[in-house]
Amino acid sequence: MSDLVDAILGRRTVKPSTYSENIPDPKMIRKLVDIARHAPNHHRTEPARFYLLDSDRIQKVGQLFGEIVAKDGSNPQLVERGKKKASEWGNAPGLLIITCHTDRNSELVQKKPEIIEEDYATCCCICQNLLLLFEKENIAAKWSTGPVWEHKDFARTIDLFSPLHERVVALLFYGYAEQKPRARILSHINKSLTDYS
Ligand SMILES: Cc1cc2nc3c(=O)[nH]c(=O)nc-3n(C[C@H](O)[C@H](O)[C@H](O)COP(=O)(O)O)c2cc1C
Repeated sequence: MSDLVDAILGRRTVKPSTYSENIPDPKMIRKLVDIARHAPNHHRTEPARFYLLDSDRIQKVGQLFGEIVAKDGSNPQLVERGKKKASEWGNAPGLLIITCHTDRNSELVQKKPEIIEEDYATCCCICQNLLLLFEKENIAAKWSTGPVWEHKDFARTIDLFSPLHERVVALLFYGYAEQKPRARILSHINKSLTDYS
């Protein structure tokens, strides 16, 4: 139990160092993904798709996000921010993209549209599983939702399985980091818990 408590309380968002030569072994990431998939999943739809990128694709995704941030290129501040983002993302040591696949035309979804939300919830559980597993392996990670998928070339760059029915849940940047912030202090539990016991 204490391992789990430590992982939950100790996990923080940490930008992985781009300077470290040391990169988590993709075979280990693959194994952690396989474990993380074991999350509650109404109707057993297995909605999550995973894209474990190589450095060329990480660079390309970074470039695409830079272009999204820079918009039409007419605002120098946005252009500068776009360049920074392209470099920050493009030099990330590791990037795992998690999407949620729900076929909106399927008989099941036509009958039960709530599945769209339920599938997304499952994918979020899987992401948290992954973050906790990363924590146990001392892998630093950052969950991002920078809207790179708005770029017309995104689907092709990572060869999205089914672009029309797939939504990006998380871009998980991962790697190693020198330091990590301390555990986060939350507001008192009484603010969020109604306890009738
Ligand atoms: C759904 C989701 C989307 C997020 N998107 C971003 C993002 O786009 N950029 C970013 O810097 N952090 C992002 N984060 C990380 C949060 O900002 C971070 O979890 C929050 O600041 C709390 O810090 P902690 O994770 O260290 O407890 C995201 C987290 C979640 C759960």
